[in-house]
Amino acid sequence: MVIMTHKIAVIPGDGIGIEVINEGVKVLNCVSQLDPKIQFEFTHFPWGCEFYSKTGRMMDDDGIERLSKFDGIFLGAVGYPGVPDHISLWGLLLRIRKSFDQYVNVRPVKLLKGAPCPLKEKSPKDINMIFIRENSEGEYAGSGSWLYRDKPNEVVIQDGVFSRVGCERIIRYAFELARTEKKSLTSISKGNALNYSMVFWDQIFQQLSQEYPDVETHSYLVDAAAMLMITKPERFEIVVTSNLFGDILTDLGAAIAGGMGLAAGANLNPEGNFPSMFEPIHGSAPDIAGKQLANPLATVWSASQLLEFFGYKEWAARLIDAIEYLLVEQKTLTPDLGGTAKTADVGDAVVAYLQKHFA
Ligand code: NAD
Ligand code: IPM
Ligand code: MN
Repeated sequence: MVIMTHKIAVIPGDGIGIEVINEGVKVLNCVSQLDPKIQFEFTHFPWGCEFYSKTGRMMDDDGIERLSKFDGIFLGAVGYPGVPDHISLWGLLLRIRKSFDQYVNVRPVKLLKGAPCPLKEKSPKDINMIFIRENSEGEYAGSGSWLYRDKPNEVVIQDGVFSRVGCERIIRYAFELARTEKKSLTSISKGNALNYSMVFWDQIFQQLSQEYPDVETHSYLVDAAAMLMITKPERFEIVVTSNLFGDILTDLGAAIAGGMGLAAGANLNPEGNFPSMFEPIHGSAPDIAGKQLANPLATVWSASQLLEFFGYKEWAARLIDAIEYLLVEQKTLTPDLGGTAKTADVGDAVVAYLQKHFA
C-alpha cells in the first residue's frame, strides 16, 4: 500500500474560524482513519487578530516561508473587532493568496437537497454553478495612493490592475473547466462603465473563446447578472469573473444556496508551485463566535475541495454526500439552518455518516 502523507498548515484564525476548523480537521482525520492510504500531518499556526494584539503582526515574519513548505493550507476565518479589517486581512488572508499566487478561487454555488432556498419555485436542478473568481489582481491589486491626507484637497486613488497574463490565465482555467465538465461558460464584467479594465477583460474572453468552439459562452454585465442569479439562476453553470465581482456575487450565491454556513472556497495555485488554500468563504462572525453556534458544513465542503485537489475525487464526493444527508435528515443542523445542534455535533454527525457508509 502506498501511503501518501499530505502536510497541511492549519490556520484557524479568528472568531468562529477556530470552531469550524476543528470540525474540518476532525472530518479529514476520519477520512484517514477509514482510508489509511490518505494521511494528513497537521501543523497549527496561532496567527490572527489575537496574535496581532500580542505581537503587532498578523503572522510571524517568516510565516510565508514556513507555509511554503506545506502541501496545503486549511484556513478558518480572519478579522475581528479591535483590529482594522484592512490590516488583518492584508496581513494574513490576502497576503497568503498573493504570496502563493493562488490566482484561482473556486467557489461552488450549488443548492444541495434539503438546503433552504429563499427563491420560490427554484430547486437543486436550477442552482448548480461553479464560480471561478480571479484571485490575484484586479480590484484587489492593493495599488493606489492617498494624497494630501487630512487636507481639504484630499484625494484617494484605488487602481484596478488587469494584466494580460492575469486575465488570460483565469479565463483559460474557466474554459478548461467548462470543457471538461461539458458546461456553458459565462463571463461577468462591466465593460459599459469600466472602459479600460472590463473592455480588456471582455476582449480576452472573446479571443480565448475562439480556442474553445465546443464551449457555449455567455457574457453578462454584473448588474444584470446579479438580477439573473435571483430570477433565472439556471442560466449559470461555470462562471468566470473578476476579484471584486466574484467576492460579491458568491455571497449572493451563498444566499440562494443555503446560506453562508454552506459556502466553500478553494484558493488554487494550479501549477503547484506553491501551496493552495482551502477555506469557508464566510468571515469570523463575531456575533456568534465562541458559542458553538457556527455551521461547520462550509468548512467540511472546503475539506472536500482539498481532497479533490489532492486527487481523491471519491472521498471529495462522499463528504458532499454526508452534508446532503444531514440537510435532508434535518436532525443535526445548527441554528442558521433551523436546528439546535452545536458546531461540534454537526462535525460528529458527518464523521458518523462516513463511518457508517464507508468503513
Ligand atoms: P461573516 O461572514 O463573518 O458574517 C455574516 C453573517 O453570517 C453573520 O450574521 C454571521 O453570524 C453569519 N455567518 C457567517 N458564517 C456562518 C456560519 N458558518 N454559521 C452560521 N452563521 C454564519 O461576515 P462579516 O460579519 O461581514 O465579517 C466579520 C469579519 O470577518 C470581518 O472582520 C470581515 O472582514 C471578516 N471576513 C473574513 C473572511 C475570511 O476570512 N475569509 C470572509 C469574510 C469576512
Ligand atoms: C472572501 C472575503 C475576503 C475577500 C475579504 C475578507 C478580504 O470576503 O474571501 O470572500 O474579499 O476576498
Ligand atoms: Mn467575501
